[in-house]
Amino acid sequence: MNIAIIGSGGDGAGMNQCLYSLVSRLIKHKIFLFNRGYQGLIDNSISNIGLKELKQQRTKGGIIIKSSRSKDFMTEKGFKKAIQNLSDNEIDLLIVMGGNGSLQGAKKLVQNGINCIFIPTTIDNDIEESDYCIGFDTAVTNAIDFVEKVDTSMQSFDRICIYEVMGRHCEDIANLVTQKTNSSYCYTAKSTKEECLKVIKKELKKEKMPKIILQENVIDNLELKEFLSTNLKKYDIKVAVVGYVQRGGNATKKELEMASCFAKQTVSCIKNKIFNNMICYNLKTLKFESKNI
Ligand code: F6P
Repeated sequence: MNIAIIGSGGDGAGMNQCLYSLVSRLIKHKIFLFNRGYQGLIDNSISNIGLKELKQQRTKGGIIIKSSRSKDFMTEKGFKKAIQNLSDNEIDLLIVMGGNGSLQGAKKLVQNGINCIFIPTTIDNDIEESDYCIGFDTAVTNAIDFVEKVDTSMQSFDRICIYEVMGRHCEDIANLVTQKTNSSYCYTAKSTKEECLKVIKKELKKEKMPKIILQENVIDNLELKEFLSTNLKKYDIKVAVVGYVQRGGNATKKELEMASCFAKQTVSCIKNKIFNNMICYNLKTLKFESKNI
C-alpha cells in the first residue's frame, strides 16, 4: 500500500514517537511523509526524512515533519488540490495525527472517498471520542514543573500568583495541574471572580501563599489580577503564563508508551483493512479501540 502520514494542528510531545513507531511498523509499505499537515498535501511537499532521523527525534517535542493550521485546506480550491495530490501520488490511505480541527478535515476527506485513519494528538485532551490524546501528559508535566519553579520565588516574597495554562476550551490541563501542585483554586468556565476571591481569602489564613491555576480563554488574566488586587489591597499579585513551554521538551515516559500504543493500534487496523476510523483510548477498559469517523 501507499500510505501518507501528516501531523496537523497544535504540536505536542509524543507525536514524533508515534510517527517513528508507525513508520518502523509499516516498513513493507511505501510511506509518504507530507510536511506541514494539510498544507503539505496541497503543496505536494513530501519529506525525505528517513527512519534513522525519526528514531533520533522520537523522544523530542514538536513534530519533525512540521505542522500547520492550514487556511487553504478550508477553501474549496485547496481541498480539491489536496485530493488531487493524494490521487497523483496513488495514496491508498492517509494517517492524520491532529486535534479537533484536523479531525473535521479527516471526516471531510472520508466523505470525499479518501481512506483515512485519525490519531488524536493534542495537549488539550479535548477529542470527545478518546479519553487520552497524545501530548497531554507531557503538557501537564511541563506546566507542573513551571508552577513549582515559579512558586519558590512567589513564596519568598509572599506573593499570590495566577498561573494561566493552555488547554483551549478544555479544563483537563487546569484541573490536573491544580491537583498535582496543590493549588488553592482552579479557575475554569464554571468559576466566578467572587468565588475565587472567597477561596483565596480563606487560603491566606494558611502558612503558604495561594496559587491560582487559570484555564486559558475563560477570563483575561489581568482582569482577574485587577479584581483580586482591589479586594486584597495589601497583597502583591502576579500573573505567569505557562504558554508554549507546555508543548515542548522531551516526552514523558507515559507519553512515549501511549504514543507507541496508538501507533500499534493503527497498524493493527491497517492489517485488518479497517479504515475511515479514529484510534481511541478507553480509560474504563484501559484499552485502545477504533471508532468510525
Ligand atoms: O490546541 C493546542 C493549543 O496549544 C491550545 O492549547 C492553544 O490554545 C492553542 O493551541 C495555541 O494555538 P497556536 O499554536 O496557533 O498559537
